[in-house]
Amino acid sequence: MTMSFSAPLVKIQSLHKSYGPHIQVLKGLDIEMKPGERVVVIGPSGGGKSTLLRVMMGLEKIDSGSIRFGGKPYISSESADKKTEIDTEVRRSIGMVFQHYTLFPHLSVIQNLILAPCKVRGEAKASATKRAQALLERFGLGAKANAYPAQLSGGQKQRVAIARALMLDPKLMLFDEVTSALDPELVAEVEQVILQLAAQDMPMMIVTHDMWFAKNIASRVIFCAGGVVVEDGPPEQVLGAPKEERTKDFIDRVFHIRH
Ligand SMILES: Nc1ncnc2c1ncn2[C@@H]1O[C@H](COP(=O)(O)OP(=O)(O)OP(=O)(O)O)[C@@H](O)[C@H]1O
Ligand SMILES: [Mg+2]
Repeated sequence: MTMSFSAPLVKIQSLHKSYGPHIQVLKGLDIEMKPGERVVVIGPSGGGKSTLLRVMMGLEKIDSGSIRFGGKPYISSESADKKTEIDTEVRRSIGMVFQHYTLFPHLSVIQNLILAPCKVRGEAKASATKRAQALLERFGLGAKANAYPAQLSGGQKQRVAIARALMLDPKLMLFDEVTSALDPELVAEVEQVILQLAAQDMPMMIVTHDMWFAKNIASRVIFCAGGVVVEDGPPEQVLGAPKEERTKDFIDRVFHIRH
């Protein structure tokens, strides 16, 4: 095995993040993620899971610490003036889908998909449209290319949001509770799309409260509480036989098995 194969894709070191002087959310978080891993992050509400993903997406400033991506510096705040430094090239290689659909309502599905590739990358419209159509077909949305977001179900909107993120060929996908605002009967179609990506070895970090999904998608589970990593291990351990008392309490109380 070569060194580069085992080098981490993401290395988060001593990450601190607060909102204002009183709300300290991340208090020295350390996470290492290898290429091809699918990390599910679980933890109490308000514990900072969304904050972590937003930081990784370059949407939030940090107080201190660093994130390396593919061995290169990505985000840091080590300088004397405490300014958050972000490598925008790296940021563009990370895709994110949120709980609430973030599609542009005034653009059709296909226009939503080709906007960033054409604007950010200068890709020709014809080529972007062709890629977009192929992705939509793969996700069972071929017939919806010219529909507007308001004409779609919640599950369809989330699948479009995933397709849109994939248009920029991300090296890492972040999913923040992408099914928790959906009616139960629409959850599976969105999870299937993510499982499809997993089968193609897309590295991902996923926040979910769905035990079935967590078990099926995770190669690793991280339990975060109090702003730090409390337990980190394979899904069978963290979800099935947690070592830490706090993880066990959380799983017993919050994580329900879907029947
Ligand atoms: N923009 C903000 N300004 C001030 N406080 C914030 C902001 N965003 C989040 N917080 C606070 O930071 C803490 C962590 O929030 P975060 O949304 O990251 O938690 P979470 O783990 O994703 O919770 P949930 O499981 O409910 O989604 C909470 O106390 C929240 O109120
Ligand atoms: Mg959240």
